[in-house]
Amino acid sequence: MPARLRRSRHLSWFAHMGAVYLFHDLYGYLMEMSPDIASMIEAFDDGVDTEETIKYYDGKFGDADPRRFVDVLSSHAVLVEPNEDEIEALWAFVPIKAKWNVWQRREDRLTLWTAWGENPVQQLFLDPEETAIWDAFTGEKRLIEMRHHYDNDKLIGLVRKLVHSDVQALKLSMMPWSMYAKRPSLAPAYLSSTMPYPRWQPNTPVPPAVALDTYHTQTISNADDQFDHTETTLSHLLRVPHPALANRTYGHALVDALAARGAIPEGNVRVLEIGAGLGYVARDVIARLRATGRTVDYTIVELAPALAAAQKQRLGADAKWIEGDALTAAVPAGAFDLVISNEMVGDLPAKQMSRVDIGLELAGTGTADPVKVRAVSPLAEACNLDDAPEPFYLQTGAFELVARIGKWLAPGGTAVVTEFGDTSAWPKLSTHLDHPELSTHFGHLQQVARGESLEAKIEFVIDLLDVDRTQQGLATTRSHFRALRALAAHVDVDLPKIGYTRELLEHTVAGKLDLNNVGDLRFDRIEDRLMGLVPHEFKALVAKKPS
Ligand SMILES: C[S@@+](CC[C@H](N)C(=O)[O-])C[C@H]1O[C@@H](n2cnc3c(N)ncnc32)[C@H](O)[C@@H]1O
Repeated sequence: MPARLRRSRHLSWFAHMGAVYLFHDLYGYLMEMSPDIASMIEAFDDGVDTEETIKYYDGKFGDADPRRFVDVLSSHAVLVEPNEDEIEALWAFVPIKAKWNVWQRREDRLTLWTAWGENPVQQLFLDPEETAIWDAFTGEKRLIEMRHHYDNDKLIGLVRKLVHSDVQALKLSMMPWSMYAKRPSLAPAYLSSTMPYPRWQPNTPVPPAVALDTYHTQTISNADDQFDHTETTLSHLLRVPHPALANRTYGHALVDALAARGAIPEGNVRVLEIGAGLGYVARDVIARLRATGRTVDYTIVELAPALAAAQKQRLGADAKWIEGDALTAAVPAGAFDLVISNEMVGDLPAKQMSRVDIGLELAGTGTADPVKVRAVSPLAEACNLDDAPEPFYLQTGAFELVARIGKWLAPGGTAVVTEFGDTSAWPKLSTHLDHPELSTHFGHLQQVARGESLEAKIEFVIDLLDVDRTQQGLATTRSHFRALRALAAHVDVDLPKIGYTRELLEHTVAGKLDLNNVGDLRFDRIEDRLMGLVPHEFKALVAKKPS
């Protein structure tokens, strides 16, 4: 280890929901770390004695040895020798294009569009020589091998601009891409990661996570933006007649699927929807039921005032509203033939717990103690909890909702509860949204439903809706799509956030934009990726109350 080290002059910091990230603006490395390690990096400043600094931080990171961190940080050029020429070091690296670029080519010039997180959309114009350099970034050659072909200042200047966290169009790699193409698991994660979160300064407070219980009443202010940008649902992407649904919408396909299962009575149908978002599912369920000669009484329970307002605008007199929390709202019992809860149970409160809280061994053995389980949630007694990881989440809010749905259903009625989740995987916390959200353990929901005397089974949403698995859909991230949308707006094309197939996208931009000159457009199998979602990971609990 060098006797003295200083902090690189090319570091950017970001923070999101309690986590802190370092972005190395010369390489595009991304590292998540705790705020106290960020403070240590700051302390290296313009150069300090390495051993003294390690000694000072000894014991400050719990059991972790600061020497290990210093080691990793210096091998990633976050800490460097005081007189090191940081730019000269770049020549040994291989420039590899990042994964979520948005660009447009006009003759011999390329324009890059970036829209990281909430930052303003920006364009970066490459001149013809820079465009030629961009085209030469094949992911195979080290910069030093390109040195003789291009003006050196221009080459290194462009690399620095493209790698910087403001742009994130390029990464520098130790190894050529072909090394990893055959062994994708060896590719370092930063090569395909991007940083969309807000900037942060070390030694300042880290923005905390928004609490799960206050989010929907207070935080959602712009309803359309919520679904178009912040939290897109599968039903939102499929709110237009979609080729993968034989040109039906999500709501249409849902009614068809339930009708085919004999779950919808003739005559008048009483529907309750819980958490209706922008009201598109409601709009299409009502229309499909009416189109099949039925009449509809549609009631919506909605917690977020901004979303209730959007629903009222969309549905007018076609629905009634019960505004408030579905876990406490007064909803008539035994009064609904159909209950729909689409992609909302993941928003409900859950408890983070330790195995020992319910009488299990930390080592992974033991049987849950029913008395302890009942004390946490009487409904959880119906669930097999013995295989809980450490720590684990118990979706107590979702359990309560399933039990309440059981009471609201009329005899013979059916409920559909969809969400992102799996049959037997324990809930995982995702933090990429602006609020914490859990994946759903559908096995538990099924056990709770059965405990409430419902007949319950679990289906893949894409199978329930009869999605054509062979079709291909556009793969995006939020920032990628925001940049693409800005690019399109520039030529007066409105790109609504729908689940684009190539044909849908071509149709939308027809006459205004030649997609051959626009990238990166990746189309994956719809079941694996549609925009930012992974459709095969959505499941449905279909529960029927015996007649
Ligand atoms: C992720 S959105 C899904 C919206 C819509 N069903 C869809 O498929 O697009 C969750 C919806 O549930 C609502 N919601 C969340 N928690 C709720 C609660 N406790 N009671 C009632 N509605 C709730 C939200 O306001 C929002 O309308």
